[in-house]
Amino acid sequence: MKLTIIGTGYVGLVTGTCFAEVGHQVICVDKDTAKVKLLQARGMPIYEPGLEELVQRNVAAGRLSFTNSTAEGVVKSDIIFIAVPTPPQPDGSVDLSFMEGVSREIAQNMTGYKIVVDKSTVPVKTGDKVAETIKRYCKARVDFDVVSNPEFLREGFAVDDFMKPDRVVIGVRSPRPVQAMKQAYEPFQAPVIVTDINSAELIKHAANSFLALKISYINAISVICEATGANVNEVANGIGLDTRIGRRFLDAGLGFGGSCFPKDLSAFIKISEQLGYDFRLLKEVQRINAEQMDRFIKKIEETLWVLKDKNIGVLGLAFKQNTDDVRLSPAIELCERLQREGAQLRVHDPRAMSKAKAILRDVTYVDDMNDVAQGCDALVIATEWPEFKKLDLERVRKELTHPIMFDGRNLFDPQEMETLGFIYKSIGR
Ligand code: UGA
Repeated sequence: MKLTIIGTGYVGLVTGTCFAEVGHQVICVDKDTAKVKLLQARGMPIYEPGLEELVQRNVAAGRLSFTNSTAEGVVKSDIIFIAVPTPPQPDGSVDLSFMEGVSREIAQNMTGYKIVVDKSTVPVKTGDKVAETIKRYCKARVDFDVVSNPEFLREGFAVDDFMKPDRVVIGVRSPRPVQAMKQAYEPFQAPVIVTDINSAELIKHAANSFLALKISYINAISVICEATGANVNEVANGIGLDTRIGRRFLDAGLGFGGSCFPKDLSAFIKISEQLGYDFRLLKEVQRINAEQMDRFIKKIEETLWVLKDKNIGVLGLAFKQNTDDVRLSPAIELCERLQREGAQLRVHDPRAMSKAKAILRDVTYVDDMNDVAQGCDALVIATEWPEFKKLDLERVRKELTHPIMFDGRNLFDPQEMETLGFIYKSIGR
């Protein structure tokens, strides 16, 4: 099939590449000339495990191409996926101007029947607006269908999540586009759910909010664990084995960040408010998330007392493992708060240092994770990178002026750390 993806961010680039990998003919469109040039020259704008190899293979096979021209993408394909950013606004609502702009451009370039698919995360009822916009700006008065097809991939696991989805959601206003949509996804052999557009849009916000709720729930439990001497990992394992609950997304830590959960929660609360419902449950999820960071900083202050002129090592800058994405990263927030209290930081991240340099200044970036602790009063773990578990703990202990570690991601065993001579403070244990 001939498919066009408009927007080459995390979702768009992974979607286009994976569709090409299963044999479709894919055009990826982006307005950012520098990004298109980079991709045409086989460079990568983001780090995502396995993606670079897939892009190279599919470009070489002639199944994947990149262009600046929306017109080209619209004319040459049967299905047009919109995967543009939907950034947050100060009041929590979503800025849909990219969606609107792309809908108009698609309309102006349509010469025959097209299926226009919204893959960006949007508030419920956006599909109606996209359809209205296309109808208004379509010069040729040709037929089209709007489909909502939310994406559930996680950064850091994006290729795997896309190639082996738990489900594919197809939201439609009429049965006409269903067959073509099913055909596009047929190679992935996943359960397909066909719904109306509003339900499909709601499925995305409801899924992300529920996952955020799970994280805040276990973070709240971690507070009770600390007050009682219980262990949050054991509680998570104990409840997670109940298949009605499930163990995933029950890792206590510094709270969730990134470009999805915080934004989607705010957007879902806002749209609910506009629809006449005060979604207090989700406001509480946000509050617990913010408090989790406050509590961790307090833990550092209680141990180190005054932070001014203390040297602190920080491992992890990305918002989670396996990515170079630092947008709304709890690790960056932590660094900035420690800096505001006058601490001097030595930091390391396996992948995110170059992106972090644009937003986190006046820190020492250290190339080797085992060198970060050098001369520091304490070491902090801020991101759940699996490589940090291979830290040379013996050396780290000797490098620290005081053997203190604050583990915001529960990577180590408290008893083993104590045996190794660390003063070790983690979350809910
Ligand atoms: C999230 C969803 O998981 C995807 O399904 C969705 O497609 C995506 O948003 C999106 O809307 O585009 P993502 O933001 O890439 O994916 O990352 P997650 O793996 O969900 O992690 C989000 C945050 O939660 C991270 O800061 C992570 O450290 C934190 N987290 C995750 C925890 O604190 N504990 C956990 O148990 C799991």
